[in-house]
Amino acid sequence: MTQDEMKKKAAEAALEYVVTDSIVGVGTGSTVNFFIDLLAEIKHKIEGAVSSSEASTERMKQHGIRVYDLNAVNELPVYIDGADESDHYLNLIKGGGGALTREKIIAGASDKFVCIADESKLVDVLGTFPLPVEVIPMARSFIARELVKLGGRPVWRDNFITDNGNIILDVHDFEILQPMKTEAEINKLPGVVTVGIFANRPADVLILGAPDGAKTVYSK
Ligand code: 5RP
Repeated sequence: MTQDEMKKKAAEAALEYVVTDSIVGVGTGSTVNFFIDLLAEIKHKIEGAVSSSEASTERMKQHGIRVYDLNAVNELPVYIDGADESDHYLNLIKGGGGALTREKIIAGASDKFVCIADESKLVDVLGTFPLPVEVIPMARSFIARELVKLGGRPVWRDNFITDNGNIILDVHDFEILQPMKTEAEINKLPGVVTVGIFANRPADVLILGAPDGAKTVYSK
């Protein structure tokens, strides 16, 4: 089975978390794209969606799914999004697609965060995937030096501007043994908009697509 087929299995399994007549939080990425395509088939059962990126907004609008501004929404029972890595406590690395800031906002605003991924994303320790950090452009060099002091090797993501007009530093060679602590440390650097560690608000449910079906892991 291909990685895409496993992503699709996870996306299919996430449909059962969609609450009828509610607004669904929708993330970004190739796994979420499968989810959006499936959500389109039941769009008559939901009121609409809030979106974590221009790309997901565009895809949902093409399907005729109504997309709301988060400011217009009081209740968000569930948020469905992918991840670049998850540990066994459902702490995540996100931001491979560069949408980490809006993703973190929607995750924070939702009652339940359901993460969908293929099984290769489950790791013992976060950090093999380079950690994305969204940074205000003028702070780029300063933040890069600070990230080096923390032990990482930041690389400026080429030709990439986020939906919020900022840049991304991808931090390589950075083993994240204490996700909550590292998230807080990087967050407090002036000029950092968002760090792609989701430990303060981890996923509540992780659905992993695998060759023998989708497996669900709940947060401890
Ligand atoms: C985007 C993300 C994605 O969820 C993450 O990169 C996973 O993407 P994919 O589903 O394509 O593997 O955080 O910012």
